[in-house]
Amino acid sequence: MINNHFIQQFIKQIRQLINCPDPLNEIKGYLNTLTCETLMKQVPFYDDLEVCLFEDKTVSIWYCRFIPGIKVPPHDHQMDVVVKIFDGTEHHGFYKNDNGKLIALKSTQVNAGEIVVLNGEQIHDVTPDKHKVSQALHVYFGPLNKIKRTVWDKENNKALPFTIENYQALAQ
Ligand SMILES: [Fe+2]
Repeated sequence: MINNHFIQQFIKQIRQLINCPDPLNEIKGYLNTLTCETLMKQVPFYDDLEVCLFEDKTVSIWYCRFIPGIKVPPHDHQMDVVVKIFDGTEHHGFYKNDNGKLIALKSTQVNAGEIVVLNGEQIHDVTPDKHKVSQALHVYFGPLNKIKRTVWDKENNKALPFTIENYQALAQ
């Protein structure tokens, strides 16, 4: 994995801010200072579409590139998350879990330069633009790989444990 100087500094900064009294606002503020131009220039174009750049018990930092034709299935995070999109456009669909049934709430288009904030219970799916990849940096407020969470089989309206296998099988 290429963690260049910029990514190392980014991780260092996020790790400091996650320990502030108001990490959500601090991290949003920091991500807002990073322009798309800077991020396009400084963030490596990783071979893998989804890369865990850092994780400890306080924070997980990911690079995600979503490509046309692949839809990220509905899922929750069980912790706050802030996503900074710096390339392309993403369509986020929001849902709620109504006694084990997935209910669609709203959908929104998020453009490069914008930030998406989700709390632990919120469920979303992501559809990239039809023609262009999207790239984003994701900051999760806890150890994402160690937490039990849910991915949804939307077609059958069924909640499943979030595993790599279930996630990949449901990505369409
Ligand atoms: Fe997500």
